[in-house]
Amino acid sequence: MKTLIAANWKMHGDLSWRAKPNAFRRAYGVPTHGKNSGVDILICPPSHMICALVDGAKGHDIHIGGQNCHQAETGAFTGEISANMLADCGATYVIVGHSERRAIFGETDSMVAEKADSAITAKLVPIICVGESREQRESGQADEVVGDQLKSSIPASANGDTLVIAYEPVWAIGTGLVPTLDDIAAMHDHIRGILSTRFGDEKAQTIQILYGGSVKPSNAKDILALTDVNGALIGGAGLDMESLCAIAQAVEG
Ligand code: 13P
Repeated sequence: MKTLIAANWKMHGDLSWRAKPNAFRRAYGVPTHGKNSGVDILICPPSHMICALVDGAKGHDIHIGGQNCHQAETGAFTGEISANMLADCGATYVIVGHSERRAIFGETDSMVAEKADSAITAKLVPIICVGESREQRESGQADEVVGDQLKSSIPASANGDTLVIAYEPVWAIGTGLVPTLDDIAAMHDHIRGILSTRFGDEKAQTIQILYGGSVKPSNAKDILALTDVNGALIGGAGLDMESLCAIAQAVEG
């Protein structure tokens, strides 16, 4: 399975950032000659930049995705953007259910499932985010919380062919704190087990499970070497192309 290195730019950047895919490629090289070919790079910029980034990424073999979508195709939803609209811009992925969307914008598992469903319908790959809070981890509920989120956030329409899961412990996002490697490995194994129950062992093995939360060039190698970690969802370090490049290079050892 390929490794997916995804940068979530959150609400950062302006149109001058359209040059970033080019800067990334200069730092990282072109993946078509064997080197780097096991790694997919994805950048998820704010919506207003998606079309420009799709343009800027042409010829660089970099995917561009959205950070969120509305569950409806069209309608009177002022300020929202649909999965179809993201696809119309040339996006190929969309993050759904990020913990910031769940906590700040009140998104529930069922809304996340609807968003993921609309993404699949629009032929986008949904990246469904799950993760526990610090209190939930400290009280030993992390497995149960993440398991429940996962089961309720994967839409009935998903067959496992176009689906990515991101495990992002809320307390690790933007804090510099990272779970132990054993804890990351255990949670990814738990998630894989739930995917196996839902899709069967063979299909579950093909679904990328990303880790997110304070991934940096300094810790990426150890995290990405874990068996069930198939990539990373990166916030702060993904704003800088040298850091993103160093994280992607960590995949190759
Ligand atoms: P940081 O990498 O800044 O901790 O953010 C992680 C994240 O929220 C990615 O979606």
